[in-house]
Amino acid sequence: MMGKSLLSKIDKHTVAKVRARAQTLSPDFTQADAVIAAMLQDGDALLNRGHLLARLKEFGIAGTSWWKGLDNYADWRNDNLLGPQQIPTEIVDYLLFAAARGPKDALEIGVSYGGTTAFSAAFFQAINPEFTYHCLDIKDKTKLSPAMRDMLNIQMHIPATSDDLAGQQFDVVFIDGDHSYDWAKRDFENIGRNARLVCAFHDINGKEYIPQGGGVFRYWRELRATVSREAPMLDICHAVPGEHVSKDGLWMGIGLIDYASRHDPV
Ligand SMILES: C[S@@+](CC[C@H](N)C(=O)[O-])C[C@H]1O[C@@H](n2cnc3c(N)ncnc32)[C@H](O)[C@@H]1O
Repeated sequence: MMGKSLLSKIDKHTVAKVRARAQTLSPDFTQADAVIAAMLQDGDALLNRGHLLARLKEFGIAGTSWWKGLDNYADWRNDNLLGPQQIPTEIVDYLLFAAARGPKDALEIGVSYGGTTAFSAAFFQAINPEFTYHCLDIKDKTKLSPAMRDMLNIQMHIPATSDDLAGQQFDVVFIDGDHSYDWAKRDFENIGRNARLVCAFHDINGKEYIPQGGGVFRYWRELRATVSREAPMLDICHAVPGEHVSKDGLWMGIGLIDYASRHDPV
């Protein structure tokens, strides 16, 4: 379930723990399917932040116990892999920000198992039944159930990178693929900067990617000096206290460019 190259980078103890945990993960998506169906019935009620968070808790964040940084949300983990790999309040605030701008489509770059995909697609589609959610990844790891594929308007672009879709326009772009500086830049230049309404970057506080040329961390800080001259930029940075997160308590983080308010550069 994990590539050899990644496993070779982490110690044997962690590998054993990950493998043991993977054995306990359930292939049963009955609960997840029921939440997606309920969300589609909820419609505009999902625009209430408390309600959307409650739905996310029911759906669950990814049950990957090796992400110790999310221990602060231990009771939100589900028992399968299909949950957003996100800090719950951050992903919900990003979704509400994007929805307020009336999108009709979105692209997620880097979908992994598809937890954020399923939850986001259900949310946007509940607000706008014509909504299409596009997925881009270099590898097909998606665990979307047949029922989810049936209920949700999802279009797969897998395997592919942003090079393959360069120049295409989407209302919302969520960049969460390769977290190196070079790929963050490439995904933005290929697609993110063309977003009609919102371009979002995940992991603007992901200091673990700094060894990769500065990672998204460095690129986002560079963009703040330039893109802020043509569109509002906002950071969603909620703390996840715990010994596994950096001293300032910040981890993950979602950076937003509000292209709905784009203006001539100043
Ligand atoms: C952190 S995971 C995505 C998590 C997902 N967005 C979520 O919230 O649940 C990163 C994904 O990016 C994919 N990826 C890596 N390099 C990529 C690239 N250059 N273009 C697109 N996807 C890439 C990986 O295969 C992996 O599935």
